[in-house]
Formats: sequence, C-alpha cells, structure tokens
Amino acid sequence: MTSSAATKIKRRKAPEAASGRPVLLLEWYDRHRRRLPWRPPAGERADPYRVWLSEIMLQQTGVKTVGPYFEKFLARWPDVEALGRASLDDVLRMWAGLGYYSRARNLHACAVAVLRDHRGVFPDTEQGLQALPGIGPYTASAIAAIAFDRRTMPVDGNIERVVSRLFAVEEPLPQAKPFIQQLAATLLGDARAGDEKSRAGDSAQALMDLGSSICTPKKPACALCPLNDDCAACVRGDQETFPRKAPKKSGALRRGAAFVVTRGDELLVRTRPEKGLLGGMTEVPGSDWLAGHDDNAALQQAPVHKGITRWHRKAGVVTHVFTHFPLELVVYTAKVAARTRAPAGMRWVPVATLADEALPNVMRKAIAHGLGLQG
Ligand code: ADE
Repeated sequence: MTSSAATKIKRRKAPEAASGRPVLLLEWYDRHRRRLPWRPPAGERADPYRVWLSEIMLQQTGVKTVGPYFEKFLARWPDVEALGRASLDDVLRMWAGLGYYSRARNLHACAVAVLRDHRGVFPDTEQGLQALPGIGPYTASAIAAIAFDRRTMPVDGNIERVVSRLFAVEEPLPQAKPFIQQLAATLLGDARAGDEKSRAGDSAQALMDLGSSICTPKKPACALCPLNDDCAACVRGDQETFPRKAPKKSGALRRGAAFVVTRGDELLVRTRPEKGLLGGMTEVPGSDWLAGHDDNAALQQAPVHKGITRWHRKAGVVTHVFTHFPLELVVYTAKVAARTRAPAGMRWVPVATLADEALPNVMRKAIAHGLGLQG
C-alpha cells in the first residue's frame, strides 16, 4: 500500500484512543510538568485571568520570553478589573518588545469587554470565550481546558508535532490540521472509562511540555517518552521527518529607510497610525517599506526640515522578519542644533527614556544601529 492510500484509510476515522495513552501522559505530567509562572501548584485550580493573559502572550511568543512579561503585567494589573481600567497606552508600553502589537490592543479590549459585558468574570465555554476580542478557536480551547476543565484539546505547534509522530500522519501541514485535531482529542482522558475525571487542561499542557522537552523538532529524546511504545513514527525510526510540511511561500523582501535624527541627547520620533502593522507604536521617521524599493527612492522620503542639512548613511543594514515578509532597513542619521523644532506630527524624546516608549523591536534595532549602540 502506498503511503497516500494509508493516509486515506486513516482519514476516514481517527483510531480509537489506545486507552493507556491519556493515563500515561498525565502520569508523566504529574512527575515532569514545567513550573511556569501562570501555572498553579499541582492539583490547584488555575486562575482564568492568568490563563487568559498567558495564552494571549504565548500566541506568537515562546515560554522563555513570555515569563518576565507575564510577571510584569501581573504585578501592575493583578486582575482583569485592573487591566480593564488601565489606559491602552500604558498596556502598549508594557507590551513593547513582545511584538505582534494587535495582541496588546485586543488584550485591553478584551479586559474592557469582560468588565463591561460579563461583570469581570470570564465566560467558561469555548463559544463564550471566542466572542471576546483576541480569542480565536485555539486560545478559546486552551482557556476552556486549562481554566475551566472543558473537554477540549487546543492544538499548537508542539502538539501538532507530537501527534503527527504518534500516528505517523503522512498528510502535510497545514492541510492535516483538522485530522491532527481529531487525533489529538483521543489523548484526552475518558471520564466514562474511568481514566481521569476532568483534566483536559493538564492533558493539553502535558502534550505541550512533551513537545518542548522530549518530542523536540530535532533529535527527540524518544527513550524518555512515556508514549514511545505506542508511537508509530518512533517504531519506524523516522520520527524526525514529522510533521510533514507543504513547501512555504514566504513574502518578498521589502526594503526601506529609517531616519535617526538627534538633537543633543534627544531623538526625533513619531507615532504610527492606529490601524495596521505596529499600529500606535513609536517609530523614528522612515520611508515606506516596499518590495523593490531602492536606496534613492527611500531617501526621497526623509523628513524635510531646514535644520537638517546633510544625511549620513550608516554602513550596513538592519534586518527584521515579520510574519508575512522580511524587511531590510538602511539607516540615515542627522544631527540638528539645540532648540530646533520637531517637524509636524513628530516629537523629541530623550534617548535615556526610550525604554518607556512603545518601541517595536525593529525600531529598537534601527535606533541602536543609527546611534552606534550595541544592537
Ligand atoms: N503554549 C501555549 N500555552 C501554553 C501553556 N499553557 N503552557 C506551555 N506552553 C504553552
């Protein structure tokens, strides 16, 4: 039988859960779970606010990076009411550096909605959660399972990898997502079979932890895996080849210029438009970011100001990768005299207080390059 024929047969019906898997997984989790700031001690109920906050931060960011941000947010806004009463500007400032800033806007909008429409209590169903800003199907499933023990399995990249190996799923991602979702649900404990009463959140987090510590993309530590006896890919020895992936179409390289203008110890900045990429964040003036842009076209878009007589092009470029495209920025610098006014729509900020600005990473890099600081 060819592998595609095998896939077709498998797709008709997800295999029944080998009844031992959910139990083995939870036993492993009880011994090896990661201590993460949003997880309560074993056996205690998770706080929906912490679960929600962590899940939004973890949407496109790794556990290590999220940890300190989560602690900072929690210290400043210990509950949804405090966050709902905060200003969006303060939230954006605190979020600076985490990237994907629409998450911070939605985070704030969600806290406001929970206060206004739900009297400060998060809905406890996937459907209710999905009606809130910034909560899509994955996040709703994660919060419902972890905070409310709903029997649902959120499938992230780690879980996709674990499941695609466990069942040797031949169909490539992303097409295989619905099938993998179906297979992943078989790893939830079955209350009727007496496996475990209601530990859906722990089952999901067990798979996440397994994926990050043992069933890693390269060189998985299969000898330590609680499910190795029953892992189709491990038995065949080709586990590293899963998940299968369709070839990626990456966005075309865009190019542009950033203008780093200083007035003594101050830097010229402006605020990006509310809508769109990095909406509402702080930036140095710059050109459009376009595929096929050349340096001269970008320089035409330098801020026009009689105090600026000459632009210096810094050697090298600053590179940054957004979700949909890579970016290359040429950085130009200029110095202006004390008391020179900022052009319309721009302002001077002391370099020493830049850390308080809602500066996205790409701008931090451009400014560091322009000022000759360690990037
Ligand atoms: N990634 C997304 N949610 C997570 C969680 N609750 N624990 C660890 N990693 C995660």
